[in-house]
Amino acid sequence: MVTFFFLSSQIGDKWQPFDLSCFCVPKHYENDLEQVLIPHGIIQDRIERLARDIFQELGQGPLTALCVLKGGYKFFSDLMDKINQLNCNQGQKSIPVSIDFIRLKSYENDQSSGLIKIVGSDNLSSLKGRNVLIVEDIIDTGRTMKKLLNTLQQYEPKSVRVASLLVKRREDNNGDVCYMPEYAGFIVPDKFLVGYALDFNEYFRDLNHICVISQAGMKKYRK
Ligand code: IMP
Repeated sequence: MVTFFFLSSQIGDKWQPFDLSCFCVPKHYENDLEQVLIPHGIIQDRIERLARDIFQELGQGPLTALCVLKGGYKFFSDLMDKINQLNCNQGQKSIPVSIDFIRLKSYENDQSSGLIKIVGSDNLSSLKGRNVLIVEDIIDTGRTMKKLLNTLQQYEPKSVRVASLLVKRREDNNGDVCYMPEYAGFIVPDKFLVGYALDFNEYFRDLNHICVISQAGMKKYRK
């Protein structure tokens, strides 16, 4: 299954991103972005398919969907909507889904600090015996996810799976991904991406498309 996603949702280095002028972008970000890598509509279409795969594969029992804030909130919300639609329309079966939220911090500017702080983690004892789906925005070095998976083990969930909208190929890893989740939206090039809740120092979450930040944008919003 992982191989299938890897092949089908790969945004290769030769992928031609879209010119900004092809799409509506908030005026306040016009000079801060290079290109649109994944337009909002394509994001939605991909999430629809991920929801179907999750519904078919995890449909045997109740599920706890764990949103990694803040970057994962849009993906989480759209994924939950699409799973709910399947719950209402499939007739034969539906998955009871409870939701929970966690907040981690690992980045300053565009660099991983190597340290991961769990900022919010209440109610995690409720994960005991549950099938858990972690919903994350992007996996880069994979350190955040590995640390989170380790941390969650102490709460004794029945199973844990990961859905990440984006997974980055790393140049320092021979152009390969460092960690492949069970559900991957798009495999993306090693660039710093913003939009659809992904931020650069808290900016760009209010942008619908996934875009490549420009040098000017980095300079403007660098701390
Ligand atoms: P990792 O531990 O290196 O896998 O980093 C994962 C976390 O880093 C994500 O949850 C994001 O918060 C952040 N991150 C990594 N790459 C990007 C990016 O291109 N844009 C925005 N945030 C990123």
